[in-house]
Amino acid sequence: MSSGLIERIREAVDSALQAFQAAPSAGALEAARIEFLGAKGRLAELMKALGALPKEERPEAGSAANAARQAITAAHQAAAAALERQAGAADLLDVTLPGRRQPRGHQHVVSRTAAEICDIFARLGFSLVEGPEVETDFYNFEALNFPPDHPARDMQDTLFVSRELLLRTHTSPMQVRTMEKTQPPVWVVVPGKTYRRDSDISHSPMFHQVEGLVVDQGITFADLKGVLTAFAAAMFSPDTQIRLRPSFFPFTEPSAEVDIACVLCHGAGCRLCKGTGWLEILGSGMVDPAVYGFVGYDPDKVSGFAFGMGIERVAMLKYGLDDIRMFYESDLRFLTQF
Ligand code: DAH
Repeated sequence: MSSGLIERIREAVDSALQAFQAAPSAGALEAARIEFLGAKGRLAELMKALGALPKEERPEAGSAANAARQAITAAHQAAAAALERQAGAADLLDVTLPGRRQPRGHQHVVSRTAAEICDIFARLGFSLVEGPEVETDFYNFEALNFPPDHPARDMQDTLFVSRELLLRTHTSPMQVRTMEKTQPPVWVVVPGKTYRRDSDISHSPMFHQVEGLVVDQGITFADLKGVLTAFAAAMFSPDTQIRLRPSFFPFTEPSAEVDIACVLCHGAGCRLCKGTGWLEILGSGMVDPAVYGFVGYDPDKVSGFAFGMGIERVAMLKYGLDDIRMFYESDLRFLTQF
């Protein structure tokens, strides 16, 4: 008789444990608790049956019933705690909330302008090359036809690393490095950092240039003008006028400075163009035959033109900025506008 009761107690424990574990909600768990632990529940019934046992069988069955109550109570507590944990996690994770966007960086306006400039020239058939920022006197000056004591060197406000090495003052040294390595036709643009001992509202000790070089058969000044007209139209607006003013650079002959019609007043004259109607954007010219002498090109067979522009300057004109230092201050209020 007692073994039959003990068997029923064991069954009650098994089904209670199963019911608690399977309860999907606090309500279901409470119903299961009442079913097994309630005043009229299965355990209470078994206790009653215990009273009907013969005296000598009661101790064994009694201790089995006590152990069962403990096991069922503990299982109920564990199931309740697990449900609470689940509910807490659900509160934290509201899947209907919109996601939080990670702040995302973007290209710096100087990089973007450089890419835009190079892109325009790529469409005109130019390839892109890059070169060292620490240069030798030979490439930065001598091979560009700046003789050792020529006053044109003074214009370059050079930062020297040693007697022979310097921070390149322009991207023009890459003209020579490129021609040394390749035979014509050469159609290249060279973006990169350049350095000069100079700092004010329109000069920075570190700035960026894009150099251009074309050497091919039968290249004339008209090609220079045509390429730069196409560039100005693509970079600024389709009807942008350019004008060429005679100038001097040791490595080009003849040389010209190129202006675009003022982006603000379109030639009428305003504060930006200081009343002239024109804005200077680059230096250019036909490659001086003396430069070909340094790279072994035959000036009777090929001719070419070169140009160099400041990237910050182009960006300032394009976006109407008046202080070059803004580019380097990492002020997000400025940078996120582009
Ligand atoms: N390298 C010159 C400078 O930074 C700019 C320049 C002028 C580049 C004429 C050229 C050029 O390629 O033909 O002052």
